[in-house]
Amino acid sequence: MELSDAIKGRRSIRRFKPDPVPKEVIEKLLELAQWAPSAMNRQDWRFIVLQGPQKAELLKVTGSAFGDFKPMLEANFKDMPKVIDAAKVFLETMGSAPVVILAYGGKFPNGKEDPYSVALAVQNLLLAAHDAGLGAVWADAAVFFREKEINALMGMEGRKLACLVPVGYPNETPKAPPRREGRIEWR
Ligand SMILES: Cc1cc2nc3c(=O)[nH]c(=O)nc-3n(C[C@H](O)[C@H](O)[C@H](O)COP(=O)(O)O)c2cc1C
Repeated sequence: MELSDAIKGRRSIRRFKPDPVPKEVIEKLLELAQWAPSAMNRQDWRFIVLQGPQKAELLKVTGSAFGDFKPMLEANFKDMPKVIDAAKVFLETMGSAPVVILAYGGKFPNGKEDPYSVALAVQNLLLAAHDAGLGAVWADAAVFFREKEINALMGMEGRKLACLVPVGYPNETPKAPPRREGRIEWR
């Protein structure tokens, strides 16, 4: 796939077929993720790949976040109850993705959090998933409301959870949201 086609053709996928994704395919996505640039080449990210019972445990926690998320959804999506219902189902199921990857950031040498390097790695992962015929999405609503609980479940300490990335074969073909004008200034 041409790089420009991969960049423009990638969509956030929130509904997945139940078909399992071979381990080698997930390994390849994570290998490509780690070719991202990183601050001082520290590559200080961590990925946890969840399937089966551990994923089910995670979904209990993410699903429990809906009550806290609802007021924000209602304020942002007035008169769009379908969007709110879809957000509930997504939190409870992560779109039925067979795999959910947790992406954790690391630190700069001065001890400050580095949220950037892991974000670039996740973008690589999203593009690589698209190139492999898979779907994925950067999902962080559960992180806003349940980060502590998720980290406790994972036994992860001292790292910022950037996002959850459900991965699987797409069961939807969303339209590309148009890109907005006026974001660039030439001076
Ligand atoms: C920082 C960030 C947070 C996001 N959080 C969520 C999320 O919690 N749930 C979700 O379904 N999509 C989430 N998305 C995906 C965006 O909604 C999506 O990228 C946007 O609507 C544009 O659609 P596209 O990715 O198909 O181009 C997030 C994306 C980013 C970059």
